[in-house]
Amino acid sequence: MRSMTLYPKTHELMRRGAEFLGTEHAILCGAMSWVSERNLVAAISNGGGFGVIACGAMTPDLLDAEIAATKELTDKPFGVNLITMHPDIFDLIEVCKKHGVTHVVLAGGIPPKGSVEAIKAFGAKVIVFAPTIALAKKLFRSGADALVIEGSEAGGHIGPVSTSVLAQEFLPALAEDHLVFVAGGIGRGEAIAGYLEMGAVGVQLGTRFACATESIAHPDFKKAFFRANARDAVSSVQVDARLPVIPVRALKNKGTDEFTAKQREVAALLDSNSVEMMEAQLQIERYWAGALRRAVIDGDVENGSIMAGQSVGMVKQEEPAAEIIAGLMAESEAALARR
Ligand SMILES: Cc1cc2nc3c(=O)[nH]c(=O)nc-3n(C[C@H](O)[C@H](O)[C@H](O)COP(=O)(O)O)c2cc1C
Repeated sequence: MRSMTLYPKTHELMRRGAEFLGTEHAILCGAMSWVSERNLVAAISNGGGFGVIACGAMTPDLLDAEIAATKELTDKPFGVNLITMHPDIFDLIEVCKKHGVTHVVLAGGIPPKGSVEAIKAFGAKVIVFAPTIALAKKLFRSGADALVIEGSEAGGHIGPVSTSVLAQEFLPALAEDHLVFVAGGIGRGEAIAGYLEMGAVGVQLGTRFACATESIAHPDFKKAFFRANARDAVSSVQVDARLPVIPVRALKNKGTDEFTAKQREVAALLDSNSVEMMEAQLQIERYWAGALRRAVIDGDVENGSIMAGQSVGMVKQEEPAAEIIAGLMAESEAALARR
């Protein structure tokens, strides 16, 4: 089918990934809460990539409406990202089933018992994240169809290990028998070529797509991205050993400082036994969701959370999603052609 491709070498290495996603190119735009809604998701999918709706803290009704609206804007495949700790996760899965969603991404922790089965039962593919090879193997055994490894260069919630090290550990161990996508810190196609050569079947980017022309992010949010350098996208710090907060990478501002204060406040509640650990962690997550909304939707780039990865320094201006994708593919192809 691809005899006419502009990117033969890249497409050859992406073949399994593109077949799995049902796309032209095996490039996912990772779900970004508040940013990855109908407009960006459809633009990515219409541009030959794979858009993913960020369900985040949405209610089942809101997700229902978002999927329906996305379908109005594209007839290409797209996915839905569900956060595993969402209290209504099984209702959200039902909504995906109702719409015949083809790919569900489970993020934010180990999938709750029965969730992978519930998704597969209506024929959808399940994409998971895993911080260790052992957990990745376990998830594949329990039915996961593909894995995203995401390094600490990424924007949003992050693990402790860099993409380059994760790729060297996971790809030789898993890529022959499984579909593995690489995420975190990818800003240009040369990096995509490198991970494909190591055995990845595709890649996932967030930061590079957050300010696409079609992204509804507030103009001030986008401006903050255009001005920022890699070193401005810093990881949050944990202040209390008892409160294991998942670090978040975002542009440094008053909001990142306030987060430190918020942790102290929640830690104090733990001290006085006024909250359970689970509730304490949920409070932290709710804080992030609210702060991200303030930055993305309201444009409050002082107090809100401008989640961004280290590749933010490579985001200079608004560009249509399709052009970003074409640029990445061309860079990858040029790199592979030089080999
Ligand atoms: C603003 C922002 C919000 C994000 N929100 C989510 C989210 O809600 N769920 C999720 O699984 N990942 C989220 N991510 C991570 C992305 O899906 C993606 O994996 C990541 O951005 C890839 O790394 P990169 O930023 O270096 O390209 C977010 C990233 C950003 C920049």
